[in-house]
Amino acid sequence: MNIPVTVVILAAGLGTRMKSRRAKVLHEAGGRALIEHTVDTALSLAEPDHVFVVVGHQADQVKRAVEGRGVRFIRQTEQKGTGHALIAGRESLAPLGGLLVVYYGDCPLIPAAVLASLIDHQKQSDAAGTLVSAELEDPTGYGRVIRDAGGRVLAVVEQKAGTPEQLAIREANVGIYCFQAGPFWQHIGELRPDNPAREYYLTDMIEILIRAGHKIDVFRADNPAALLGINNRVELAAADRTFRERKVRELMLAGITVEKPETVSVDATVVIGMDTVIEPFAQILGKTKIGEACRIGACSIVRHSELADNVQVAPFTMINTSRVAEGAHIGPYARLRLENDVAPGAHIGNFVELKKTRMGAGAKANHLAYLGDSVIGEGVNVGAGTITCNYDGRAKHQTKIGKGVFVGSNATLVAPVEIGDGAYLAAGSVITDSVPADALALGRARQVTKPDWARKRREKPTTKA
Ligand code: UD1
Ligand code: CA
Repeated sequence: MNIPVTVVILAAGLGTRMKSRRAKVLHEAGGRALIEHTVDTALSLAEPDHVFVVVGHQADQVKRAVEGRGVRFIRQTEQKGTGHALIAGRESLAPLGGLLVVYYGDCPLIPAAVLASLIDHQKQSDAAGTLVSAELEDPTGYGRVIRDAGGRVLAVVEQKAGTPEQLAIREANVGIYCFQAGPFWQHIGELRPDNPAREYYLTDMIEILIRAGHKIDVFRADNPAALLGINNRVELAAADRTFRERKVRELMLAGITVEKPETVSVDATVVIGMDTVIEPFAQILGKTKIGEACRIGACSIVRHSELADNVQVAPFTMINTSRVAEGAHIGPYARLRLENDVAPGAHIGNFVELKKTRMGAGAKANHLAYLGDSVIGEGVNVGAGTITCNYDGRAKHQTKIGKGVFVGSNATLVAPVEIGDGAYLAAGSVITDSVPADALALGRARQVTKPDWARKRREKPTTKA
């Protein structure tokens, strides 16, 4: 009973109802392109070399989105309909035999379980194919399932081709099929574009196979919302919401507290440890990993980053492509812009920006600072307003600050510059030369105080210009 399963995903169309210059399947929901979702679903059912994506519009971009998964591609240079998409793949597909599962690349929510039971059903049936149908409130736009008086399927009729009586039928073709490869390829040549749209309809295969004496089964879906394709941006937003709800629910059941879950966005690819709390409106995106007992503050955005256990991220903080070690505090209003490494127990406070910076264990930059291309030692205290001048207009340079250094407020460190362990930089200094360990460096004009100057000025009669 080991029948090979081949999955074909149709994704050659532009999707005019999206009103977009980008192919529909490249639009994202739940943090990933629609085509990524539909290909991943296929990969849970078939080996990568048995998963085919039919590409046409923006073929290269669509390919690029999923080629890393090892799947194969069929080019449909002209989009003459869903049946034509399969004709385009006939040479590669027909020799594979077995079962042929077909669905559309714009259905990112199809559960793999539905496809698995569809395949199981077909394996046990003598029908030439099984299609999935659903009873819809408003089936406008979908193909309708036509049955005879005895309830046996006769055909699927498209919206544009249906008679008024046919269009009154509410049983719609969901667009997921499992065919026996043999009869399917034997009869595909009988498809004709004899409909108002002049397209080769895949759905005409139902009638063709039945006329040839085969039987077609129908698998009724009870949750059609999860199966239907996305045609416009309203439906795209609904799918996005569904993905986010799924993920957040999964997290909550795994021991993560999510406050006001309806406001939180977490990509499917994110991993989060137990007892972490996610505050309202947080976004946790991409390949992010968060440890246990962390807190992700309200309105914070964490993207492609790794946070160890007990990391506290206060509200309105952005963390991008960075690593934050155990017990560190970040924010509120902090920005870890690019490739930073924050060691255990470090504090990064409000309006502090880090870029390509290593912040040592227990080091603190609590207020208003820019630290770029810097290596900051253990226990360093970076005063408010400290700036590393890492860019001279041509190239980027490094700032190195040794262990236990005290950087006075509003210091300006002109890179490249190196500060030795335990040194002390006076507030307001412009540091252009390296400072040896344990030294004090002052880089500012000495203060001049003139007693009574202000009072005398006030008392002097004003002279007109
Ligand atoms: C299709 C079905 C309809 C069903 C509905 C469910 C046909 C003829 N109709 O209609 O019965 O109710 O889906 O959502 O199949 N595509 C190609 N090449 C082409 C044309 C389309 O790859 O030449 C791809 C598109 O990129 C898209 C998918 O096929 O991902 C479906 O095409 P679409 O035009 O959206 O079909 P519907 O009119 O929705
Ligand atoms: Ca569609």
